[in-house]
Amino acid sequence: MARIVVTGRIPSDGLDLLRRHHEVTAWDEDRAITREELLGFVRGADGLVTLLTERVDGELLDAAGEQLRVVANVAVGFNNIDVDACVTRGVTATNTPGVLTEATADTAFTLMLMATRRFGEGERVIRSRTPWQWGMFYLLGMGIQGKVLGIVGAGAIGIAMARRAKAFGMSVLYTGPVPLTPEVEAELGARRVEFGELLRTSDVVSLHCPYLPETHHLMGAHEFELMKPTAYLVNSARGPIVDEAALVAALQAGELAGAGLDVFENEPSVHEGLLDMDNVVLLPHLGSATTETRTAMAVLAADNAIAVLAGRDPVTPVTPVPGRG
Ligand code: DGY
Repeated sequence: MARIVVTGRIPSDGLDLLRRHHEVTAWDEDRAITREELLGFVRGADGLVTLLTERVDGELLDAAGEQLRVVANVAVGFNNIDVDACVTRGVTATNTPGVLTEATADTAFTLMLMATRRFGEGERVIRSRTPWQWGMFYLLGMGIQGKVLGIVGAGAIGIAMARRAKAFGMSVLYTGPVPLTPEVEAELGARRVEFGELLRTSDVVSLHCPYLPETHHLMGAHEFELMKPTAYLVNSARGPIVDEAALVAALQAGELAGAGLDVFENEPSVHEGLLDMDNVVLLPHLGSATTETRTAMAVLAADNAIAVLAGRDPVTPVTPVPGRG
């Protein structure tokens, strides 16, 4: 029996699975564990099951000890993990792709509809008890039918977003290091274009790329200038892909029409400038937040940890990013 440390609360299906194979110590407070607590908590672990709120770096791996063999992140994004530090120490890092694709695409699509149709704004009118009356010109938004969706990063979630968009009558452009197969392009009616063309042409730009050093502030002042003043930005990927201060400035200058954001540059803080903007929809990182999805993520992370500790290949090791080194 190995010792597994779970660094935050996860659904019981995942925890029970781990407990059937190993001795498990799990952080079970509602608040996130502090860094100091974490460094002590992981000591002696053979496996760690981590959340995206924990920074898994050399310091943490060393605090766990030389016996550590696996870090199973309960998220598809693994920008919180220093993969090189894991490789150097012979620790396998895993993530949870696939199981959260549909839930996250649902979130991105919802943000797009909420922003373009001004539904967030409408809801705030009613909740604030502001008097209102139906009118032909009241809170008119932009219809998405016949419009262009630009997908930045056509991985599984980007493709799932494109599928939804096609069903709603949008046409799809995408960028990404690797072209989709001709079959998938045909299914989605999608065309691969240069990033600049995507920004200039799209009515909605939706971000689905991983957060890497090269995608830090991928959307900044220059990119917002390229967008149509009638266009919207949707981000359900990672906050720091967007330069939040530049986004606020661009929205204030009318360089784009609005935004729907599920993730933020300095979570859980949100740039003050966004908070009072009616054309911005803000969600507290709910991308994968369904009971079914979070359960599947916890079970997949547990499967990964159990596989590595049994000397088998993990189900979903973190994979090299296409087009990168
Ligand atoms: C992920 O898995 O990376 C998501 O952000 C969690 O919702």
